[in-house]
Amino acid sequence: MTRAEWIQRITAGEGGLPAYSDVLNPSQIEALVDYMLAVRDGALPQPDDLYALSVDSPKGFVLARGGDPASGHKFYEAQCAECHGDDATKIIFDNGEQTLGMHARYYGYAIAMITLVGEPGSDMGPQLAPDLSVAEQTTTLLNLLAALCDRTRYPRGNATDPEVPDGDPRCGAYLR
Ligand code: HEC
Repeated sequence: MTRAEWIQRITAGEGGLPAYSDVLNPSQIEALVDYMLAVRDGALPQPDDLYALSVDSPKGFVLARGGDPASGHKFYEAQCAECHGDDATKIIFDNGEQTLGMHARYYGYAIAMITLVGEPGSDMGPQLAPDLSVAEQTTTLLNLLAALCDRTRYPRGNATDPEVPDGDPRCGAYLR
């Protein structure tokens, strides 16, 4: 489907898709469609390169293999530690429920998206260098996700949610 068709479909709704014009203005709908099409057409990292869907896994995903935790730790130190702290416990999300490490182990897909585009309404902007190729962006995100699966290095701190258990499928072999 073309950009114009998607804008029309999301604006007016169709089938099970609600009419987003009730809650988003036209330029917001255009931005949403441009993001979707950039992912679809490979101008941004694609979900299939970062995780697989799995009905057997909590939250329905399992991280893709091939990430390099050591490179991910270096990227974390360079790009995230200043605000989130060396062990990612400095900011605790959702009224004290989860540190960044836990959040990645629970919802890795969301960390990939927020690293790419930033966290709206906070001081955190997009975190990848703008001159990276799509392949480099994908590798950087997968390395980061692999690194954040280390429960010792990025612990629970004072968060209130439980830590993911040994053998949790989301992080797969990355879980430490
Ligand atoms: C300039 C400071 C800064 C930098 C650098 C930064 N963050 Fe953030 N980040 C924040 C702030 C502030 C928030 C909002 C916290 C809140 O919602 O309570 C945030 C929120 C987030 C969230 C959203 C959690 C949620 O509530 O869903 C994620 C995920 C995240 N950061 C990951 C990262 C990662 C990964 C990096 C490095 C690649 C990074 N951040 C770099 C400041 C920063």
